[in-house]
Amino acid sequence: MPEKVLTNKDLESIVDTTDEWIYSRTGMRERHIAADGQATSDLGAEAAKRAIEDAGISAEELDLVVVATLSPDMFFPSTACFVQEKIGAKNAFCFDLGAACSGFLYAMDNARAQIASGAVRNALVIGAEKMSTFLDWEDRSTCILFGDGAGAAVLQAGGEGRGVMDSVMGSDGSLAGLLSTPGGGSRNPISHEMIDQKQHYLQMQGREVFKHAVTRMTEAVVQALDKNGVSAADIKCFIPHQANVRIIDAISKRLKVADRMYTNVEKYANTSSAALAIALDEAVKDGSITKGDLVVLTVFGGGFTWGANVLEWGK
Ligand code: ACO
Repeated sequence: MPEKVLTNKDLESIVDTTDEWIYSRTGMRERHIAADGQATSDLGAEAAKRAIEDAGISAEELDLVVVATLSPDMFFPSTACFVQEKIGAKNAFCFDLGAACSGFLYAMDNARAQIASGAVRNALVIGAEKMSTFLDWEDRSTCILFGDGAGAAVLQAGGEGRGVMDSVMGSDGSLAGLLSTPGGGSRNPISHEMIDQKQHYLQMQGREVFKHAVTRMTEAVVQALDKNGVSAADIKCFIPHQANVRIIDAISKRLKVADRMYTNVEKYANTSSAALAIALDEAVKDGSITKGDLVVLTVFGGGFTWGANVLEWGK
């Protein structure tokens, strides 16, 4: 996480809001904000170094570096190439993956499939975001919801247990307009007019997103359990995308797993594709997940995109 912390109280002096409004609607108390000059790849590289150290391998042993992000350093080259250079993963091929907040799970599944095919032995999967660059700090309905940060994991061939098991993933492009950054690309190129209309900032229909997020993540978890032949009772820990505590509570209720649902949204807000990676890391470090445990991850994001998978923790 970047050092700077922005609390709900701090936000009261930026937009017309209150700590009470934000906390009661989202469960968020604070978020971290990257420094000027600190880009997404800087956050991603820091997380990557820790993940590589944790895995006990060298950066040169990595075959693949994939960065899930919706806030890349540049349109191109990919943020993954900047991370590669910073960590010295000189034998890896590198690319970014765009699935908005679902990116880390999509990237994990991509790495799983590449490992299963035999093409890759060691993959570094990163979720990294500098969301603060793409927020309208005059729009209280969006700027309070997001934070900056990064998380990373090394996926390896072999090892003990079943590791990352099968994933369920889906998308619905007909709903793209409900959550997007409409300006700055080839559809609506950079212009004075586009910037005056603030179309280079994230825009969202919050209520609609809320409903779809609950439905899709709940369905995806049920499908992932079924696909992997396990039941909710077998799962030690459920880690959902950290978008909003009310979304997470609604999923817990439907699945009846409130006692095992992991959340850290209070401290970091929504860090988009980084959120799942950060929560997974914290769950391992605080003992919520230990060797042999079955874990379910689930995500939802712009696109819309969604997914869930099951993994058996091997370390
Ligand atoms: N402070 C105070 N008042 C606010 C704020 C704020 N920060 N933001 C909005 N309001 C006001 C609105 O202007 C509106 O006022 P009005 O009734 O006078 O018009 C009122 O609060 C209600 O606004 P709603 O948008 O209807 O509030 P809602 O209860 O739906 O909560 C929220 C909004 C928190 C955004 C909710 O819809 C939500 O969580 N949606 C999901 C968003 C999300 O998680 N997106 C990301 C998921 S995918 C991904 O991670 C990319």
